[in-house]
Amino acid sequence: MSRKVMSRRRFLGVSGMFVAASTADACWFFRRRRRCRCHPARKYVRQNIASLQPAQLQSLKKGVEVMKSRDDDDPTSWRFQANIHGTFDPPQPLFNQCEHGTIQFLTWHRAYLYFFERILRKASGDPSLTLPYWNWNIQRSLPLAFREPAVPGNPLFDDTRSINDGSELPENVVVDDLELALEEIEFRSGFTGFSPQFEGSPHGAVHVLVGGNMRSVPTAANDPIFWLHHGNIDRVWDQWLNLNAGRMNPSDPGFLNQEYSFADENGATVTVKVNDIISSAGLGYCYDDVPNPPMFVSGTEAAGKSRVVASSVKGLSELTPPEDAEPISLGFEKHSATVPVLKDGAAALRESLSEPQRAAKVLLDIQGITIQEVPNFTFGVYVNLPKDEMNAKNRRLHYAGSINFFGRGHKKGHPHRRDHVTTFTQTFNVTRVINHLRKSTDWNDGEFSVTLVPVAPIAPKGQEDARKRLSVQSAEKAKISYQRIALRIVR
Ligand code: C2O
Repeated sequence: MSRKVMSRRRFLGVSGMFVAASTADACWFFRRRRRCRCHPARKYVRQNIASLQPAQLQSLKKGVEVMKSRDDDDPTSWRFQANIHGTFDPPQPLFNQCEHGTIQFLTWHRAYLYFFERILRKASGDPSLTLPYWNWNIQRSLPLAFREPAVPGNPLFDDTRSINDGSELPENVVVDDLELALEEIEFRSGFTGFSPQFEGSPHGAVHVLVGGNMRSVPTAANDPIFWLHHGNIDRVWDQWLNLNAGRMNPSDPGFLNQEYSFADENGATVTVKVNDIISSAGLGYCYDDVPNPPMFVSGTEAAGKSRVVASSVKGLSELTPPEDAEPISLGFEKHSATVPVLKDGAAALRESLSEPQRAAKVLLDIQGITIQEVPNFTFGVYVNLPKDEMNAKNRRLHYAGSINFFGRGHKKGHPHRRDHVTTFTQTFNVTRVINHLRKSTDWNDGEFSVTLVPVAPIAPKGQEDARKRLSVQSAEKAKISYQRIALRIVR
């Protein structure tokens, strides 16, 4: 393997050359249909899987098939590419590189997809091939070509998934969680902001709900749907930047100068800086329905000071629970906890929420969440959820978000183990929810409740019992528990 270190100019020059050499002009095609909103120089338009022409789908299948037929130690093979993300296979320098729970989640996966797309394009023999995306926000069940025909001969099929039966992803994940993430203005500030929120859900929740290989980091990229899921993740990042109103990528040199290595379409190791791959425009592609955001970058990560104002472990004002705090187990059923407000907590809350410029954020932590393996469902988390049935709109007023079980406890560059017990804290930005609830008549300054509602894919008619059994079994194996729920103010 030859090793090339690309300078920014050279790198962009190379990708520019590829653009010029492309024969099919996908952008022209879309312009004719008045749908191309990306820069005219971008010839690589990533399309919604639902709008692919039969010949394009054929190219995609061909590319995947060719990559799968290559030897595992060939950097352009399917297995090697998946291993770059994560693997149980014996470690190699390029393996186990994915960024999760860090500020580089979006950038690393953008570069990963970019080089994968080049490999796939070359393997398919179709110079116009681009990686499609799966817009689960609208198309809630797995794209048909990925589940039918359900035979090993279909290169897009993976029989480990739990939604091959056409089950749909639930609305709170693919609609509500997406909206919550897009609303965030900061890129990242500690555990809140667009990147961590979006990484948790829909990103992580979709991984878990697709199930099988997709459920965990060391196997996820073996499933062909991984690449289309991440196409959509990458697309939403551009969508978020386009919403503007102060939304920006981080700009500190430490972030931009971070280097990553991948394999290119010839199997050579390529090392790039984040600065070179941070912009879709710079990489020469765009999405069919999202214009390229401008190439500017700015803003930095900021983390504030925390003060705990409520705790399910009564009277505990420390930021973290004691190590020996009693674990509370969670099964595939609804769970409610009472969270008493600490002395002075109510006053602090009142004060911070009435600040004119709202400098303070209110965060809800579920601490000491432990799993023996990743379950195939997640939990929606609600504050003061009334017991009686509610309509969807009402319910959303109480909604904090969903727990993310994907990519937890994984350390970049470290080999994976199958018997890994994972412990983590899930944080939600509940500023808006708490602010709203405080104004309602049934708010009690002394305590509130947090309800965890299990969220599984929605089974097709007649399959509901089978689906439920799968979830219950999964809960038994996952042995989910947590130690404490706390509310804190950050400023
Ligand atoms: Cu690195 Cu969606 O995974």
